Amino acid sequence: MKIVIMGSGYVGLVSGVGLAEIGHEVVCVDVASSKVAQINSGTSPIYEEGLDALLKKNVAARCLRATTNLAEAMVGAEISMIAVGTPFDGKEIDLSFIRQAAIDIGNTLQYAADYHVVCVKSTVVPGTTQDVVGPLLERASGRRMGEGLGLCMNPEFLAEGTAVKDFMEPDRIVIGSVDARTSALMQEMYSAFASTDFVLTTPVTAEMCKYAANSFLAATISFANEIANLCSEAGEVDAIEVLKAVHLDRRLSPLLPQGRVKPGLMSFLIPGTGFGGSCFPKDVKALVSYGAKIGRPMRILEAVLETNRKQPSETIKLVKEELGLLSGKRIAVLGLAFKPGTDDVRESPAMPLIRALLKEGAHVVAHDPIAIPSMKAAIPEVDVDYCACLSDAIRDVAAVVLVTSWPQYAAIHNLLDSQAIPIIDGRRFLDKRKFARYRGIGLGRMRSEGRAEGGRS
Ligand code: UGA
Repeated sequence: MKIVIMGSGYVGLVSGVGLAEIGHEVVCVDVASSKVAQINSGTSPIYEEGLDALLKKNVAARCLRATTNLAEAMVGAEISMIAVGTPFDGKEIDLSFIRQAAIDIGNTLQYAADYHVVCVKSTVVPGTTQDVVGPLLERASGRRMGEGLGLCMNPEFLAEGTAVKDFMEPDRIVIGSVDARTSALMQEMYSAFASTDFVLTTPVTAEMCKYAANSFLAATISFANEIANLCSEAGEVDAIEVLKAVHLDRRLSPLLPQGRVKPGLMSFLIPGTGFGGSCFPKDVKALVSYGAKIGRPMRILEAVLETNRKQPSETIKLVKEELGLLSGKRIAVLGLAFKPGTDDVRESPAMPLIRALLKEGAHVVAHDPIAIPSMKAAIPEVDVDYCACLSDAIRDVAAVVLVTSWPQYAAIHNLLDSQAIPIIDGRRFLDKRKFARYRGIGLGRMRSEGRAEGGRS
């Protein structure tokens, strides 16, 4: 099948490489000629585990190429995918790139196959595919829906760091189509994943599936954080133990004859400094704004965002409890990326945390294995001492604050000059028994040290 993908960002490129890998002829279209040249030379413009190798292989095999010329790409194409950005402008998601992509595809549909399906891959609020993309396509192309033109919404479920694996081994494939013919062509495109669970539905349902999935995960994180914040005020209690007891409900972690199933969701129930990244914050805000717009306020999700917004201050509170006034004190911040395994700092809780420390007059030394350049570019005006060497970053500091659970921080106790330095664990990632002065999100003050079994279990 010949497939055109508009937008060679994270979603477009991973999907394009994945579709080429399962046997399709893929053309990536992007306005950035530098990106196009890079893809054609067999190098990925973004870092993602396994992407470079797969891209190189498929470019060499001529299954994948990139161009800036949509008309040329559309020649004979059976499916085109819209994978352009949908930034949140503060009030709602900005659909201008989606609109433009629909018009551009419509204008070049004359070159495509006689029957062509347009698939919206970008995350869009319910109704966008049918009410915005559909009419623009029909107007620009002169084709009518169902007559030479099909339309669907097929959300992506790709997490950064595991995106290639998520594409090649999908949990589920959701296809919301305007008609059966569209659905059939899309199922044919994904026939390599025939054993996967398919949700074949309407476009609006598919749009909602994506938002509901991310909102659920974000809500789980804020729920764990809210419980943890309460625990830290409640005396001799560790939220890790409390949430572990929650995990052990067999409806969450089923008890089978061969042992306990440990679902991945459990990691979302570990308290921390809050969620970030390019998806959860944006998607939950977009859904809240959509709810308000149609007269159905999303009170739970509003609270999810509010808890998350305040969560970095819980970490700051612990720093202040340990150090008192922060003015003039040198504090190490470990981890700048929004999660381990990426250099992405978008909406990273490290940003508000660093700003708050600086506001209190602290001197911040920041370390991250790979995200220092991205953070420098994201907050150029902020006066931080970036330090690429971990042992240098934690030398002569008054406290160490862990924000991202990079594996290399797990043995930080071996690098500390003195056990007397307070460690503020903003991810409950470290083994608290290894430190003399350990403070963690959700860990109340213990009367007798060592009574509770802590750390990550
Ligand atoms: C998320 C979803 O997990 C994907 O399924 C989805 O497809 C993607 O958004 C998307 O919409 O494109 P991603 O943002 O890459 O993927 O990262 P996650 O691993 O889900 O983490 C999101 C945030 O939650 C991070 O800030 C992370 O630190 C935080 N988090 C995650 C926690 O605070 N605790 C956890 O246990 C797990």
